[in-house]
Amino acid sequence: MAQWVRLCAVAEAPTAGKLGQYAAAGVDVCVSNVGGELRAMDNWCPHRHGPLGEGWLEDGRVVCPWHAWGFDTATGDCAEERAHVAVFPVKVDGDDVLVHIT
Ligand code: FES
Repeated sequence: MAQWVRLCAVAEAPTAGKLGQYAAAGVDVCVSNVGGELRAMDNWCPHRHGPLGEGWLEDGRVVCPWHAWGFDTATGDCAEERAHVAVFPVKVDGDDVLVHIT
């Protein structure tokens, strides 16, 4: 069932240009900060299961640390291959960052 769940404290969220990996409701989530906006996607790369949260941000895309496939932080689409990762809405509620797991 889709639900808003707490991901982390605002103070623990990635700063602009950074990303990280978190767990929410049993789902591993890669969170990126694109120009001050937090965005979330499934943490696991569909290629060989690389940890996207250990990659880097480049032109609004999360780049996988293993073979450098890039995934659009807004859509989850991959530019290099026909691949896609799920993206999740994010919101800040007080001191908490929430993610909508679908
Ligand atoms: S595991 Fe991500 S690009 Fe290969």
